[in-house]
Amino acid sequence: MHMDKGLDHTIIGESTKSFIDGQKGILEFNGIDIDALARHSTFEEVTFLLWNDRLPNADELAAFEAEIRSEYELGPELLDMLRLVPRDASPMHVLRTMVSAMGTTDPDCNDQSFESERAKAMKVLAKTPAIIAAFSRLRKGEEPVAPKPDLNVATNFLWMLNGEMPGEASARAIDVCLVLHADHGINASTFSAMVTIATQSDMYSALTSAIGTLRGPLHGGANERVMHMLQDIGSIDKVDGFVAESLASKSKIMGFGHRVYKALDPRAKYLRTFAEKIADETGNHDLYAMSTRIQDIMEREVGDKGIYPNVDFYSATTYFSLGLEIDLFTPVFALSRNAGWAAHVLEQHQDNRLIRPRCQYTGPHGSDYVPIEER
Ligand code: ACO
Repeated sequence: MHMDKGLDHTIIGESTKSFIDGQKGILEFNGIDIDALARHSTFEEVTFLLWNDRLPNADELAAFEAEIRSEYELGPELLDMLRLVPRDASPMHVLRTMVSAMGTTDPDCNDQSFESERAKAMKVLAKTPAIIAAFSRLRKGEEPVAPKPDLNVATNFLWMLNGEMPGEASARAIDVCLVLHADHGINASTFSAMVTIATQSDMYSALTSAIGTLRGPLHGGANERVMHMLQDIGSIDKVDGFVAESLASKSKIMGFGHRVYKALDPRAKYLRTFAEKIADETGNHDLYAMSTRIQDIMEREVGDKGIYPNVDFYSATTYFSLGLEIDLFTPVFALSRNAGWAAHVLEQHQDNRLIRPRCQYTGPHGSDYVPIEER
């Protein structure tokens, strides 16, 4: 027995999904470099890759896309439930609740076969964009927009969100963000999904656990905090003072640091270029300039401690420039990570062992039970 608080030094199993070299800043999905996937692939293709451990041929990809699109619709029961959610609820709480609710509308929710768990994962993956978009509209007093089954996930999401067809560049930008966020080894949310399925629970419960875990600011919730931080700083001339004060008071700069990467997160490298292009095109250059200034100072001050921008830092500027509301940033992360969560849950399901760690007990022994009237 050894103690490893935070599990920094514990390998909890084997996986064929993603490879991370935190010292060199490398990320691969099934052996393919993330940069190549971001440049050439799509969210649908990457999901196929993660679920099947290989790239699809053209027919397989078309069939997989058709399967996802056939599940786009929320259906009346889920839509009715969504209408009951308080309008001022946080979208991550809404998403977690709705994915959990999907277990109540699926007659196969207790079928534990691999095929049934995969089918549940497909439903969650395909319907998550509709949940986020419909809630975003309902809280503004607008009616949900029906999905279009001839559109890919990214384009359809923007269509349902805004009720108008997005430009090709915006749709591709979202698609690339979905590719970059699709998987990342056994991170906190993936681990919580695996712990859940390892008790022979079900895919809806596993993905509900994962969404709850993702929303924390030390994990996926950081992208929203990055945006609030940039807004609080306000202008580039205030960046130096803000970073200096934060470092002096030991406050974390959101979007920096990573448990595994001690070099630049390869996803942040790609997103930085992307964020610049989109910020320039949409008149948000100041945001980008503030971000690069923060990165320069952080590299100078704490680069030797291995603290670099992570995936959340430049995705915040990218999403904001694309017009997404700030509290939808983390739900969009979840939309994408459904692919990786499900891949690892299915992997665990195929070679399961209950995950049950131990802790070092530090309390007393042999204590007397004192009757309540004597306490
Ligand atoms: N800003 C300033 N200093 C930092 C930061 C940061 N963002 N991150 C780490 N450090 C410093 C710590 O203060 C600590 O310094 P010390 O050794 O002098 O005390 C040292 O680096 C180690 O930090 P830990 O928090 O112990 O490292 P850990 O591996 O637990 O942290 C984490 C990883 C949680 C991501 C952390 O870097 C952090 O809180 N970052 C900000 C939140 C964030 O961006 N989260 C998103 C992560 S990516 C993702 O989940 C999708």
